[in-house]
Amino acid sequence: MSFKAFWVEKAEAGFTRQIITREEADLPEGDVLIDVQYSSLNYKDGLSATGNPGVTRQFPHTPGIDAAGVVIESAAPEFNVGDEVVVIGFDLGMGTAGGFGQRIRVPASWVVSMPDGLTPHTSMILGTAGFTAAECIQKLENNGMTPASGPVLVTGATGGVGSVAVKLLAQLGYSVAAVTGKPEREAFLTSLGAESVLSREEAAAGADKPILGECWGGVVDTVGGDILFNAVKSLNYGCSVAACGLVASPTFAANVLPFILRNVNLLGIDSVQLPLQEKAAIWQRLGSEWLMDLGALEEVLTLETLSEAIDRILAGQMVGRGVVHLQG
Ligand SMILES: NC(=O)c1ccc[n+]([C@@H]2O[C@H](COP(=O)([O-])OP(=O)(O)OC[C@H]3O[C@@H](n4cnc5c(N)ncnc54)[C@H](OP(=O)(O)O)[C@@H]3O)[C@@H](O)[C@H]2O)c1
Repeated sequence: MSFKAFWVEKAEAGFTRQIITREEADLPEGDVLIDVQYSSLNYKDGLSATGNPGVTRQFPHTPGIDAAGVVIESAAPEFNVGDEVVVIGFDLGMGTAGGFGQRIRVPASWVVSMPDGLTPHTSMILGTAGFTAAECIQKLENNGMTPASGPVLVTGATGGVGSVAVKLLAQLGYSVAAVTGKPEREAFLTSLGAESVLSREEAAAGADKPILGECWGGVVDTVGGDILFNAVKSLNYGCSVAACGLVASPTFAANVLPFILRNVNLLGIDSVQLPLQEKAAIWQRLGSEWLMDLGALEEVLTLETLSEAIDRILAGQMVGRGVVHLQG
């Protein structure tokens, strides 16, 4: 059967994007064929669509690291035709044709049954970005963070990971400070639950100092660079930063003082290779005790509007979550 897919090709002048018709038979081998109803746009999809070799090496290619929909063929006993499922990470949208197509075929070991409380649509308002926000908060809490630890800083706050992190932290009773490069979006951030809003310049001030005054009971960092290590330098005693992103820089200048004087932790976050059981457990939380009303975060995208949104996410201009509606 044929289906529509976003298609990135390598040409002499660079990478081109178009929508083409593909056949199910062209998809890779796999246990589960999924009718993709929704996908979502993540920063990494922008990197894939522009040929970043750290994400995708083989072209032509269909990006889309997220997909949610219904099983239409299954060789795996744990999935039946008609089951609603969600797939994020692993090789989806990187080396394997991804969620920016109306069909994916993937190994069963990448697939999570849709938890009660979520639907293909709401799971993709979260997508990898929202899932990663939850993963950051879970790891911070596993390392001792509570609302009594102090205010929690979220960087890249209007973006996908950042906006869901602000919303979830506020819902869990944390006082949230949001860092943004979009001062005009302050009302959006306070509507999600941020108590204060800082500029990127404020968050990066003092980068030349070895340590800063104690401010934060925890940090969700999506940007890296000076803002990340400033956050480490201004943690309250014994508190932690969860580092998941690199939109400002993959590197930062560090010193050991915060670690040996303040007993703080820099925690790494990866959502891609996280074992399936742990992924499923976080999806369960997102469908139950961590269920959020995320409607205000959604920007509706289609395959036809995706290319322009890819340019915006790469320029740091997206706000909230771009959800790709693949039906129709
Ligand atoms: N480790 C993992 O498994 C994992 C999973 C998901 C995402 N990530 C990473 O997390 C990061 C965020 O992903 P996303 O999907 O949330 O992207 P996004 O929607 O584009 O959000 C990123 C936000 O960062 C801010 N920003 C952009 N450029 C910046 C710069 N030069 N300096 C400081 N801030 C800047 C912007 O927010 P403001 O305008 O509000 O500042 C932007 O909206 C990416 O690096 C992504 O690869 C990692």
